Amino acid sequence: MGNERKRSPHAFLTLLRPYKLLLTAGFLAACGESLVDLVEPWPLKIVLDNVIQDRPVASWLRPLVSLGGDNKLAVLGLAALAALIIAAVGALCAYGEKHFITTVAQWVTHDLRKTLYFHIQRMSLSYHDHVRTGDLISRLTSDIDSIQSFITSGLLSALVDLLTLAGMVSVMFYLNWRFTLIALSIAPVLFVVVYRFKRKIKKLSREVRKKEGQIVSIAEEVLGSIRVVKAFAREDYEQRRLEEESLATVEMSLKARNLKAKLTPLVEIIVAAGTSLVLWFGARMVLGGSLSTGSLVVFIFYLKKMYKPMQDLSKTTDTYSKAAVGYERIQEVLNSAPEIKDRKRAKAAPRFRGKIELDNVTFGYEPDRLVLRNFNLRVEPEQAAALVGPTGSGKSTIISLLARFYDPVEGAVKIDGSDIREFKQRSLRDQISIVPQESVLFQGPIWKNIAYGKPGARSSEILEAAKLANVDEFAAKLPQGYDTIVGERGVTLSGGQRQRVSIARPIIRNTPILLLDEPSSGLDAASEELVFEALDRLMKGKTSIVIAHRLSTIRRADVIFVLKDGGIVESGKHEELLKKGGLYAALCELQFASGDHLAKSK
Ligand SMILES: Nc1ncnc2c1ncn2[C@@H]1O[C@H](COP(=O)(O)OP(=O)(O)OP(=O)(O)O)[C@@H](O)[C@H]1O
Ligand SMILES: [Mg+2]
Repeated sequence: MGNERKRSPHAFLTLLRPYKLLLTAGFLAACGESLVDLVEPWPLKIVLDNVIQDRPVASWLRPLVSLGGDNKLAVLGLAALAALIIAAVGALCAYGEKHFITTVAQWVTHDLRKTLYFHIQRMSLSYHDHVRTGDLISRLTSDIDSIQSFITSGLLSALVDLLTLAGMVSVMFYLNWRFTLIALSIAPVLFVVVYRFKRKIKKLSREVRKKEGQIVSIAEEVLGSIRVVKAFAREDYEQRRLEEESLATVEMSLKARNLKAKLTPLVEIIVAAGTSLVLWFGARMVLGGSLSTGSLVVFIFYLKKMYKPMQDLSKTTDTYSKAAVGYERIQEVLNSAPEIKDRKRAKAAPRFRGKIELDNVTFGYEPDRLVLRNFNLRVEPEQAAALVGPTGSGKSTIISLLARFYDPVEGAVKIDGSDIREFKQRSLRDQISIVPQESVLFQGPIWKNIAYGKPGARSSEILEAAKLANVDEFAAKLPQGYDTIVGERGVTLSGGQRQRVSIARPIIRNTPILLLDEPSSGLDAASEELVFEALDRLMKGKTSIVIAHRLSTIRRADVIFVLKDGGIVESGKHEELLKKGGLYAALCELQFASGDHLAKSK
């Protein structure tokens, strides 16, 4: 973390690099604003010193004044005109600065969002297993927003403030250096105070952001599972959980706000001390003749203006610390490398024949909790294999390993004899179709959900897949047919209907390898029969692995593997295994017994 934080200012600049031109334009406008701030009191000074009093006009002004006829009225006219021009230029520059900087801020935000989303999507599943979605969402939204608001309201205005300060100090030194030293004697105090507050505020801001991320996480989790929450009547509990986090945020924000609230008056008091010093010494110097009235006015004007940038700078620290924290949190994600990466020399996978091997694979999601130990499995090309075994024995894990969602700790997963780590992930997954254990649909029309795995699919293909997977049976009856919009996560369909849509997806993709994780668990016996008929046709000429709890569905498999405790205890055809009288036979017995029981109870 330490060196990441050190790196961030540099990385932040990289973010701005593509917008050099816009930034330069913004910067120039900002310089204009500073300049306007600097010259603003000068017409007044000239009027006071050269029109009201009789001081001689400064030598650099003389040619200008002589244009107007070299009298006091001419000087006055010029001064009034100058005041007007200065104001107009100021207005123009202020507009330009805002315009350019807002544009930059919007584009930077867009770039960041794009990069971050790209990265998050490419992180391995093991990463997503551990982070909370809500937290990622808050990084993608609020943290990026904080950077945007810093660029819009902090970046250039801080620069303008610094420039204005530098300019004013120079002019003051030019007018009277001793008096300038007196006027600036409070600056170091101001600096120390602001700096110390800034550090504390930044620390609190970081905590607040973290808590806010947690709130989004909770809300995301609960709203995503609102059915479960309601079913178990846990609304109050969830309410309390959110309130607790929210209260913690309030507490922390109040602490931060309290610090900020202390800072502003403190700065004001220090500034007031400075102003009274200037009044006291300045008036005496004017009386003594070593300072002109106009100069004193310029001094006081500058001081008022000067403390404003100083105060603003201390306000900028607030937007800055928020943005810095946001940037840190974004970097944290960007700096975590995906665990599963294409190797340097990874090549595109050739068209698979479909021989699948797990060669001495040891794997666990957590290093200390192995799911598979020295696991071996071999499925020949065009074979239909089935995995059965008790819950938690590692069946879905095998499918995840085959798609390289995770890498084994030891051993290798091979397709056609090559370690799948030699292939580009994309080319590997392009040739594998998976029906996951939980069918997930996206918000959108049914046809789009079917075509998810093959974006350019023709409507005839979609329809055919839908027919094969029995989607047609219910979709055709819907008032809008295949155009019916399925709700978020597919909740507007029944479990079985969702599953059928999810089965239609691989059909349309037509890949050499098919992995089906309980494709029929949500179907009634009749639809299951139909779907499996369709799948049989689909599996022809392809290698497939089907996981099923209902043994009736896998009788036809070429080979059945029986898993237990992270290893294969038996394998063979249905009849062979039945004869053997082992775990498979026992499982069959159990299911038939319960089937009998059901039959009797009817
Ligand atoms: N993402 C994960 N992170 C950590 N542990 C996991 C993860 N997924 C599964 N596990 C653990 O790995 C083991 C095997 O899980 P797996 O999902 O492969 O079982 P399964 O055989 O498919 O079970 P089921 O028949 O219930 O679907 C289980 O003990 C489970 O707790
Ligand atoms: Mg499973």
